[in-house]
Amino acid sequence: MAAVLQLKEIYKTFHKGTVNEKRALNGVSLDVEKGDFITIIGSNGAGKSTLFNAICGSFPIDQGKIILDGRDITRLSDYKRAYDIGRLFQDPMKGTAPHMTIEENMALAYCRKTSSTFFAVNKKDSAYFRELLAQLDLGLEDRMKTKIGLLSGGQRQAVSLLMSTISDPKLLLLDEHTAALDPATAKKVLAITVDIVEKTQTATMMITHDIRAALELGNRTIMMDEGKIILDIKGEERANMTVENLLALYSKESKKQLANDRILFSTQK
Ligand SMILES: Nc1ncnc2c1ncn2[C@@H]1O[C@H](COP(=O)(O)OP(=O)(O)O)[C@@H](O)[C@H]1O
Ligand SMILES: [Mg+2]
Repeated sequence: MAAVLQLKEIYKTFHKGTVNEKRALNGVSLDVEKGDFITIIGSNGAGKSTLFNAICGSFPIDQGKIILDGRDITRLSDYKRAYDIGRLFQDPMKGTAPHMTIEENMALAYCRKTSSTFFAVNKKDSAYFRELLAQLDLGLEDRMKTKIGLLSGGQRQAVSLLMSTISDPKLLLLDEHTAALDPATAKKVLAITVDIVEKTQTATMMITHDIRAALELGNRTIMMDEGKIILDIKGEERANMTVENLLALYSKESKKQLANDRILFSTQK
């Protein structure tokens, strides 16, 4: 199967040549295959968000290549990449227009697919949005005229998931998108995430601090440390992996104390 995303030896150093110099990505190579749902773990500062920023084009990388669906996007601007990449953040306020209604927000996201200019929501689209919202099972299909800003964090993340997949992106990037939610809501949003990824078959990368969820969801788990991918497991190896073994592997590969990592990897449950 052809890779959806290919990262070839990506390097990124911030504040080069100053006392604050920080090598955030240190030679990252990765092939994301069609249908991959990759969970990403690693302690704070490992370079996980920077990796997503590099993929989205938030800054030019120092070295390496980024190929999306066979196309070299290494030098493509971030807004052009945004057509093909859906992204969610920890903060539910990001990525939606709070003063616009649920329906209008969805219409705006849908415009990206149809390449049309947004004026008003038409009946046909509205019916489609209602159908998608109903699948969330949060009752939002009856609140389509409600301003997004009035929704709870979990509801917003659920709608954001729909919005970022409605235009058929090639890749979905989730950066700890449930970390700011209470445990029960986080669980629900994770279930919705799995459901949407399965339905849309979007190649997905999900950063999480919940090491248990990292092993339970998706088909592949990557561990990062100091700007590098130090572990990439799937198949039988992953199916047999326990949280304890993964933590042990982390301390072996990163040569860091497990005592600290237990805190850094604290589960959300
Ligand atoms: N825009 C930036 N400018 C300077 N340093 C940055 C920037 N983004 C990230 N960093 C640094 O790069 C390292 C990796 O950060 P990040 O990717 O956010 O880690 P993670 O998401 O794994 O917690 C950290 O040391 C962080 O301070
Ligand atoms: Mg981060």
